[in-house]
Amino acid sequence: MCLRLLLLLALCSAGPAAAALTLSLRGSWRIRSGNGSLELPGKVPGCVHSALFQRRLIQDPYYRFNDLKYRWITLDNWTYSKNEIPFDISKWQQVNLVFEGIDTVANVLLNNVSVGKMDNMFRRYSFDITHVIKAVNFIELHFQSAVLYARNRSEAHTCYEVPPKCPPPVQKGECHVNFIRKEQCSFSWDWGPSFPTQGIWKDVRIEAYNICHLDYFTFSPVYDNNIQEWNLEIDSSFHVVSSKPVFGQAIVVIPELQTQRTYSIELKHGKRIVKLFVKINKNITVKTWWPHGHGNQTGYNMTVLFKLDGGLSFERSAKEYGVK
Ligand SMILES: *[C@@H]1O[C@H](CO)[C@@H](O)[C@H](O)[C@H]1NC(C)=O
Ligand SMILES: *[C@@H]1O[C@H](CO)[C@@H](O)[C@H](O)[C@H]1NC(C)=O
Ligand SMILES: *[C@@H]1O[C@H](CO)[C@@H](O)[C@H](O)[C@H]1NC(C)=O
Ligand SMILES: *[C@@H]1O[C@H](CO)[C@@H](O)[C@H](O)[C@H]1NC(C)=O
Ligand SMILES: *[C@@H]1O[C@H](CO)[C@@H](O)[C@H](O)[C@H]1NC(C)=O
Ligand SMILES: *[C@@H]1O[C@H](CO)[C@@H](O)[C@H](O)[C@H]1NC(C)=O
Ligand SMILES: *[C@@H]1O[C@H](CO)[C@@H](O)[C@H](O)[C@H]1NC(C)=O
Repeated sequence: MCLRLLLLLALCSAGPAAAALTLSLRGSWRIRSGNGSLELPGKVPGCVHSALFQRRLIQDPYYRFNDLKYRWITLDNWTYSKNEIPFDISKWQQVNLVFEGIDTVANVLLNNVSVGKMDNMFRRYSFDITHVIKAVNFIELHFQSAVLYARNRSEAHTCYEVPPKCPPPVQKGECHVNFIRKEQCSFSWDWGPSFPTQGIWKDVRIEAYNICHLDYFTFSPVYDNNIQEWNLEIDSSFHVVSSKPVFGQAIVVIPELQTQRTYSIELKHGKRIVKLFVKINKNITVKTWWPHGHGNQTGYNMTVLFKLDGGLSFERSAKEYGVK
């Protein structure tokens, strides 16, 4: 079975204050080289190489042997900063600084206070900044050269070898790429030059909420062979900031399978995972998803709605998922 989740509505209770806010930090940042000899504007999402190229401080990096000529960019430790970010601190019980993707090794400072470290390009990071955020803010990301980081990690790892140490010499690439969670071809590949970039390659935002917040959501279909029935396991992870439990309902609707279920939920303070187990209506034949050439690629639309008690009015935030 394949499910297409179209709309996920999280209705968090509101009362007079709004339930959630997102402040995007995309756009214009400042970029500074390690010793401050270079300072330039740079776009987020983006990287140091593209910012230098846009300011015409370097030529096309792909031209001739520019990969070797521009190694200094990679070996330096750059800083990204953004000034004068206003924020209304009076309204929120919880404030997070969220990075969807960082390339790759960096310390984050908010208003000169270290709030977190990152070293994995492939994951999202969320840092609690509730007690650090002010009315006007200053964010700094101190990057470390990915090449130096990988070398250092390799030197620290003495119990056994992790080959290969370096790429074939003809690639003129960087060594120890297997010691960093970064796009592996950025240290060179047989088809591509070595440009181990530094930068903020996905969205950055401040998110703030009261009472509760839906952090993430996953689901998987399971077939029960004994009773020949399809089921669906849905996991929703909430962060509940309210000290009192939050009550409400979760409503799951899959119209084409004539399945609609309502569950009572209770969310207690802290990080909570709500597990829903949905039995799919047995009087409908569920069509499975087949690879191309082997059958049809049938998908079903599903809506999951969380309606939480707590006030006279409700606020809604909608997310769209293109999950197949
Ligand atoms: C600053 O760093 C750059 C790049 O590593 C280097 O070329 C330059 O000489 C340095 N300048 C000073 C003043 O140290
Ligand atoms: C970058 O940082 C590392 C670790 O802090 C340091 O060893 C290295 O000398 C720095 N590189 C430059 C060009 O400043
Ligand atoms: C941040 O800290 C540095 C040194 O630790 C200091 O020079 C600077 O004035 C501080 N900046 C702010 C905005 O507090
Ligand atoms: C290098 O690795 C060691 C051991 O893991 C660590 O203590 C040190 O801080 C690292 N140095 C740099 C510059 O990353
Ligand atoms: C299948 O079952 C649902 C309730 O479980 C019912 O509403 C519906 O009419 C049934 N459909 C058919 C085609 O029997
Ligand atoms: C696949 O889809 C087509 C068009 O909707 C339909 O005619 C056909 O019967 C389906 N095949 C199977 C094996 O369900
Ligand atoms: C499922 O949702 C998509 C996108 O909204 C829509 O185009 C499609 O018609 C829906 N499928 C059914 C069977 O309702």
